[in-house]
Amino acid sequence: MLASTSRTAVRQTFNGTLTLRAQAVRASSVWANVQQGPPDAILGITEAFKADKNPEKINLGVGAYRDDKGKPYVLPSVKAAESKVIQGNLDKEYAGITGLPNFTKAAAILAYGADSPAIKEDRVAITQSISGTGALRIGGEFLNRFYPNAKAIYIPTPSWANHKAVFSDSGLEVKQYRYYNKETIGLDFDGMVEDIKKMPKGSIVLLHACAHNPTGVDPTAEQWKAISEAVKQGEHFPFFDMAYQGFASGDTDKDAFALRHFIQEGHRPALCQSFAKNMGLYGERVGAFSIVCADAAEKKRVDSQIKILVRPLYSNPPVHGARIASTILNDAELNKQWLGEVKGMADRIIKMRALLKGNLEKLGSSHKWDHITDQIGMFAYTGLKPEQMDSLAKDHSVYATKDGRISVAGITSDNVGRLAEAIYKVKG
Ligand SMILES: Cc1ncc(COP(=O)(O)O)c(C=O)c1O
Repeated sequence: MLASTSRTAVRQTFNGTLTLRAQAVRASSVWANVQQGPPDAILGITEAFKADKNPEKINLGVGAYRDDKGKPYVLPSVKAAESKVIQGNLDKEYAGITGLPNFTKAAAILAYGADSPAIKEDRVAITQSISGTGALRIGGEFLNRFYPNAKAIYIPTPSWANHKAVFSDSGLEVKQYRYYNKETIGLDFDGMVEDIKKMPKGSIVLLHACAHNPTGVDPTAEQWKAISEAVKQGEHFPFFDMAYQGFASGDTDKDAFALRHFIQEGHRPALCQSFAKNMGLYGERVGAFSIVCADAAEKKRVDSQIKILVRPLYSNPPVHGARIASTILNDAELNKQWLGEVKGMADRIIKMRALLKGNLEKLGSSHKWDHITDQIGMFAYTGLKPEQMDSLAKDHSVYATKDGRISVAGITSDNVGRLAEAIYKVKG
């Protein structure tokens, strides 16, 4: 009986229908109630891009840097550091719970600056993390466990798509503040400050330190000063996400302005760092989470609780990528080389923004495209509507997210002309 059922099952599989066996398994499975999740937007773009036979197709959906030939880029400083690591013939023992001290120490200096009072007074509690996402998750968990006020975090509208999921999975309530102004395709500065002022006293405010994702719209230095003031007045807790240090302007100090200004003003923020973009270490998952404490004794206590929190999450972080990053950060010559390469990536992106705008103007576009060059970092918010993005994909083989966001890193000297023409055709 079983044999004949299974023969039927096999026959029906070849016919492409749900087999009796599959039906029976489904009905009796522990996971029968697991529903299919919604399709992933970026995966959808990747699949549609792959299926497109047009040899001139353009993928602007990827959140990773590409060189001027549209190829993934391994930084020469990373290659050099990696070969140093390999030559070191190190063992593969576990790192401590908070990772490699040489890496975290250098990561803190990169972010806060060597002469930061927080560093000098030894009051930064820091742990290595599974890149920027892991840092955000540790931060979310820490706040959920220890933040004495309401466990709600305010994120900008819009924000990186994963922020909401990371923080709500950490047990925090996720709320929003105004950030982007659709009319100006720029910062809704007044709305942002008004919303910060309206938050209940002692709220947690997530701030993108630089190169805001997805809009590419950053506050100016003067605006950051006013934001710091509003956060201070509300006695709020600033939580910085710095996934793009160096990648925005090409200068790691300049990109750390907001964070360092807040500290100078007496804030004691939390900080998430990622080395995915600025070192191109995407898949190595190198990052750090830190909290600026009141003094060294508080740092010690916070540090002990971070360890208690991390241990059951993933025990300890991977070592290879952190060794590469540490080698780059601690070797003066490699560090200099890396800073030059970061600037090279940022400059290429800035140049592509200018070329895209210039090409649209040359075509006689009736719209203003200043926002393309005013915005900063890997992403640009074009202001194109979802149906225009659909037309870009369908009629011109240009793929990006429906919200009008394009990854400027996907633009090259070769495809920028065709891209401008496509945008001109769908928008005018
Ligand atoms: C704003 C922001 N935060 C955090 C991340 C985390 O990236 P990763 O986990 O790859 O470091 C990203 C990546 O795109 C991002 O854009």
